[in-house]
Amino acid sequence: MKIAVLPGDGIGPEVTQEAVRVIEALGLGIELKHAPVGGAAYKAYGHPLPPETLEIARASDGVLFGAVGDPDCDSLDRHLRPEQAILGLRKELVLFANLRPAKVFKGLEDHSALRPEVASAIDLLIVRELNGDVYFGEKGFRTTPNGEREGYDIMSYSESEVRRIAHVAFRAAQGRAGRLCSVDKANVLETSQLWRDVVIEVAKEYPDVALSHMYVDNAAMQLVRNPGQFDVVVTGNLFGDILSDQASMCVGSIGMLASASLGERQTDYGTFGLYEPIHGSAPDIAGQGLANPMATILSAAMLLRHSLGQDAAADRVEAAVAKALEDGVLGRDLGGNANTTEIGDAVLERL
Ligand code: NAD
Ligand code: IPM
Ligand code: MN
Repeated sequence: MKIAVLPGDGIGPEVTQEAVRVIEALGLGIELKHAPVGGAAYKAYGHPLPPETLEIARASDGVLFGAVGDPDCDSLDRHLRPEQAILGLRKELVLFANLRPAKVFKGLEDHSALRPEVASAIDLLIVRELNGDVYFGEKGFRTTPNGEREGYDIMSYSESEVRRIAHVAFRAAQGRAGRLCSVDKANVLETSQLWRDVVIEVAKEYPDVALSHMYVDNAAMQLVRNPGQFDVVVTGNLFGDILSDQASMCVGSIGMLASASLGERQTDYGTFGLYEPIHGSAPDIAGQGLANPMATILSAAMLLRHSLGQDAAADRVEAAVAKALEDGVLGRDLGGNANTTEIGDAVLERL
C-alpha cells in the first residue's frame, strides 16, 4: 500500500505530520512518499505542481494532502499560484466527487456556532462536484467597448458531468438515511437548470431515495436554521466550496472537516482518491502550533477506508479521535488550549 504525502504550505505540513504519525502507528507497513506542492514547490522548483509530484500522486493508492496557499504568491500569474496545485491534481487525476461529511462529535455540542440542540442533530454529507463549474470554465480579463477593465469566468456543466456526480450522491444516500437534497440556483442560472433536469432524470434509477431541490441561498439559511434536516446534499463546485466551510462551523470548527476526492479508478485495495482537510493553509496561525489536525487525521481515516480497504484501521482512528474530543482535548479553535502536537499525541494514546 502506497500513500503520497503532499504537505503543502502554512499549517499544511503541521497537520499532515500528525496524520502521518497516526498512519505509522497503525503498523500496517504502508509506504509513504513525500512530495512538495503549492507555494513550497513553486519556491523550490518554480511550479506549484511539479511533474514529479503529480507522478508520485498518480503512482500511489491514495494521496494525503495538507493545504496550499501562500500570501507571497498571491500576485503571481494565476497558473503559478499555489491553489493551482490542488485544482490541477483534482483535474489531472479525474477526482470529480468530493465527499465532505459533517457531524457533531460527542463533547462538541457546546462548541458549535449554533445552539447545542440545533447542532447536535447534524449528520450530513456534502457531495461536491469537483471537476467543472465556474472553476474550470474560460476566464480572463478584457476591455469593454467603453474602455473599462472587465474580469470574467464562465460557469458551465455538461450533462455527463452532472450525471456522474448525481450517481455518486444517490448511491451515498442509499447507504445513509435515503434522502438527497440537490442544491442549485435554477431560478437564475441555466447551468443550474440543466443540473436540476439531469438530477431528476438520474433519480428515476433510485426510487428508494427521496430527492428534494433547494436554491443555494435558502440552503445556506437552512444549514444554520435546521441543519438536522439534511442527509446528503449534492451540489456544484462553487456552492459546495462555500456551504462546506459553513457546515464546518455548524459542527464546531473548520479544523474538524475532512474530505475525500474520488474518481472511478480502482487500486488493488479500493478506489483511488485524494484526502484533505477542507480548510486552507491558515497563514494567520502557521508555525505557532495552533492548528487543529483532527480534519487531516480524519481525512487519513477516509483514505484508509476508501483507497486502502482498511476499514478496521479507519474505525480505530475515528474512535481515537472521538475519544480524545470526548475527553476534552481541544485546540484553540474549539475553545481549548491543546497545541497541534498535543492533539496528535492524544489521538495516538487512544489508538
Ligand atoms: P483557511 O481555511 O486557511 O483559514 C480560515 C480561518 O480558519 C483562519 O482564521 C484560520 O486560522 C482558521 N483555520 C483554518 N484551518 C484551521 C485549523 N486546522 N485549525 C485552526 N484554525 C484553522 O482559509 P483562508 O484564510 O481563506 O485561506 C488561506 C489560504 O489557504 C489561501 O491561500 C487559500 O487560497 C488557501 N486555501 C487552500 C485550501 C486547500 O489547500 N485545499 C483550502 C482553502 C483555502
Ligand atoms: C477547498 C479550497 C479550494 C477550492 C481552493 C484552495 C482552490 O477552498 O478545497 O475548499 O476552492 O476548492
Ligand atoms: Mn474551500
